[in-house]
Amino acid sequence: MALRSIRKVGDPVLTKHSKEVRKMTPRLEELVDDMLDTMYEAGGVGLAAPQVGILKRIVVVDVSPEQDDPYILVDPQIIETSGEQTGYEGCLSLPGKSGVVKRPEYVKVLAFDRNMKEVEYEGQDLLARAFCHEIDHLDGKMYTEMMEGDLIDNSELAEMQEQAEREAQEAQGTHEEETHTI
Ligand code: NI
Repeated sequence: MALRSIRKVGDPVLTKHSKEVRKMTPRLEELVDDMLDTMYEAGGVGLAAPQVGILKRIVVVDVSPEQDDPYILVDPQIIETSGEQTGYEGCLSLPGKSGVVKRPEYVKVLAFDRNMKEVEYEGQDLLARAFCHEIDHLDGKMYTEMMEGDLIDNSELAEMQEQAEREAQEAQGTHEEETHTI
């Protein structure tokens, strides 16, 4: 296992379509392990193979608090969606920034696991958002293309969050401005 370097916005590899895997190989298994290491090291909750420069349809996602429960999706397809969620998201290929993106509240994904066994996963909230975000990367799409409004610095977002918390305390209500780097 090893860390791979994460391609940043402006790198043409991030705008290309990735190819189907169909058959797992030792080299691709190594890629999956490296993607997991790279995602955890970078503090993201998802990573797609093109983000490490490999145009194959493989993504990894882990939204668990302990970061010990990864989903490995090979040749994933979204087969069902429902509802809607609007919130901030970020990307390891665009560090330190976030933007507001509308996503389905629920998605069902058909994929293969690392042993090329067919699997079906359901995701809600952040998991649904992460599945959508990563699968978009396989088609060369960044969240910024479907963002509402402008990119914001995460430091500014943190300030907004603090401000909102202060106001919420005063108003005895709740309000959250949170982002996740996917
Ligand atoms: Ni991303």
